[in-house]
Amino acid sequence: MSSAYRRTVRGMRDLLPDEAEKLRFIEETAREMAKLYGYREVITPVVEHYELLAAKIGEETRKRMYVFEDLGGRRVALRPEFTASVARLVATKMVSVPKPLRLFSVGSLYRYDEPQFGRYREFWQANYELFGSSNPEADAEILILTDNLLRRIDLQSYHLKINHVGILRGILDEEGIVEEQQNNVMQLLDKKQWEEALRFVLEAGGSQRCLDSLKVLFGLRGKEPADVTQEIGEVVADYPRALEAVKNLSEVIGLAEESGAEVDFYVEAGFARGLEYYTGMIFEIFAPDMDIALGGGGRYDKLIELFGGGSVPAVGVAPGIDRMSLALDRQEPAARKSAEERVFVIPVGEDTVGEAFRVSSMLRKKGFRTELETMGRSVSRALSDADRRGITHAVIVGPREMKQGKVVLRDMKKRSQETVSLEELFERIRKTY
Ligand code: HAM
Repeated sequence: MSSAYRRTVRGMRDLLPDEAEKLRFIEETAREMAKLYGYREVITPVVEHYELLAAKIGEETRKRMYVFEDLGGRRVALRPEFTASVARLVATKMVSVPKPLRLFSVGSLYRYDEPQFGRYREFWQANYELFGSSNPEADAEILILTDNLLRRIDLQSYHLKINHVGILRGILDEEGIVEEQQNNVMQLLDKKQWEEALRFVLEAGGSQRCLDSLKVLFGLRGKEPADVTQEIGEVVADYPRALEAVKNLSEVIGLAEESGAEVDFYVEAGFARGLEYYTGMIFEIFAPDMDIALGGGGRYDKLIELFGGGSVPAVGVAPGIDRMSLALDRQEPAARKSAEERVFVIPVGEDTVGEAFRVSSMLRKKGFRTELETMGRSVSRALSDADRRGITHAVIVGPREMKQGKVVLRDMKKRSQETVSLEELFERIRKTY
């Protein structure tokens, strides 16, 4: 057997305790947000029919899917995102559930991306989808929820890059450029290949007026949503559907601003997303010094219909857990230290092991994270190990103290200790932390 099996498969990662803890912290916060906003969790399979996942995912991600034939001869794939699976649910098993319907998912996803900073072949997302409303307040809710989540994990600095796919599609529709070609343009824009996108439109038969408008549009961007959307409106004034889209975008941003959430928006008219199901507002989360998006989302009003579930408008977002964790590490590594105490119970000799077990159970019942010395080491050895592992309090259970119903509590940071009764123990730990 070669030794290659000792390494993880390229692009796959082991998450050791520190990494796993960070990931779970964000996952838990994302779950709390789901509860606060009324999004109920659904758990869908990792393996789905290829056809479902590939339907509107866009060329770029489609070719990076893990696709295989299962032993029953079905063409299946590992999910590269949640939206298709959740939309399938809404088009089938949940088709008669009254709308609005808010659904949350969290878990691992798979894309055969080129491994690099923040880009893995197995990664994690939290995913929120709101079904049933085509009103701007639904879009605004998704934006506010996203902002709320980022604040709650304590990310200090970020912005939401935002646009509306109806602006570009509105122009291209009027030029008679078919959907498939439009998708190609979007893919190029997603990769910031504006020149190539213009060339493509020219070759697809776009008029000079259209090319001139697009050229100006691709340069329009900025932090003042009202100003930028007004400029966009002026450029697309002759394209009624594009103009409608700009109005919708201003309304959505306006609502989010009125909410008092103080979301930091950056409107960019040449911004597109690779996924093909979007029909309205689209956005991505960015942090300074990281050119990869921490999350993305938008409105997709036609996907449920495509899956045979009737006309159900939808809007959603998927914050990427791995990348949020990376951004947090960059911005505020110190703030991420666990704020909880960690207690280590050390029996002095074999006779006190039973009592040490009992004390440990009591501590856990009170909610303290408690480990018990199980290596039979001397107190001093156990203490130096506790120091190394970031234990905050040691509880030493000795035979003499035990007889009086007492233990020795050592504050590992201050390196001081005192003898306390079991009743006092909990209070003392809380007070010294
Ligand atoms: P997406 O932009 O493809 O959107 O992915 C969302 C987030 O997942 C990204 O911003 C990023 O944080 C994370 N992500 C994607 N690929 C990788 C990777 N290879 N490694 C690490 N993180 C990655 C969607 O998936 C849509 N389903 C979002 C959505 C929900 N739209 C509407 N509802």
